[in-house]
Amino acid sequence: MTTVYLNGHYLPKADAKLSVDDRGFVFGDGIYEVVRVIEGRVFAWDAHAARMADGLEGLRISRAGAESALLRGVCERLVAENGLGTGEATVYLQVTRGAAPRVHHFPATGTPTTVFASASAFKPNMAMRTDGAKGITLADIRWSRCDLKTVNLLGAVLARQAAQEAGAYEAIFHRDGMVTEGAATNAFMVVGGVLRTFPLSHYILPGITRAEIVELARGLGIPLEERPVALRDLHAVDELFVCGTTTDVQAIVELDGRRIGSGTPGPVTVRLREALAKRLYGGS
Ligand code: PDD
Repeated sequence: MTTVYLNGHYLPKADAKLSVDDRGFVFGDGIYEVVRVIEGRVFAWDAHAARMADGLEGLRISRAGAESALLRGVCERLVAENGLGTGEATVYLQVTRGAAPRVHHFPATGTPTTVFASASAFKPNMAMRTDGAKGITLADIRWSRCDLKTVNLLGAVLARQAAQEAGAYEAIFHRDGMVTEGAATNAFMVVGGVLRTFPLSHYILPGITRAEIVELARGLGIPLEERPVALRDLHAVDELFVCGTTTDVQAIVELDGRRIGSGTPGPVTVRLREALAKRLYGGS
């Protein structure tokens, strides 16, 4: 039996019920997080909690009603209650503006927010990490506040479906001729020995894994520029990888049916993948 958290209660998943008036359901009016748990340890919790707090502020959802989502303890209890204290897991957290009759503007002050969390077993795709994956490029049709991790994910849903139909793992977005990020990942490229990634702005999610990669690259002395790569140059980069909480560092070795670099994960990608693995599994 799976135990989930809903509005202050730990209960069987089958008993967790939401109103059909919930603004998460009606408007996609909420935020979410996905956190990684390894051997019962929540990875980078403070960064996830800080991003959630920023998201609440960005959407003007009262933090007062969402404090439990910002507590590591909820994740830890879900992990323990679901027998996920060993091996790997993910915890999903979601906060919505709550249930109220359908009008677009905010409901009355004091309308309780909805806070939901669940934990699931997770198994990274190690074969894909080692061999590399396929990607496609797509126009970034999302809104211009991609820095907010909202549950309004249609851009990602349509892009991942297009990727799947093309036999690819990820869709890499471009906006105004520049590569922004993946549908559910941040993107890095190696160009002439320099690691490049789109700068933090409203056009990408400030990925927790992205921040780890930036820090690791600096520590390893890998030259790094937070500067966009043009779409027209993308197929000729030496290396391309995407990263995220459930993606780690994932080489993209074929893009739109064309080989990237040597067609195998490149040296910078492998170095960073190993450095991240050390952080994840080494406990440092
Ligand atoms: N996706 N960019 C986008 C658009 C994302 O949705 C995500 C995460 C990332 C990577 O962020 P992080 O390193 O903090 O996971 C970048 C999550 C995992 C998801 O939607 O399931």
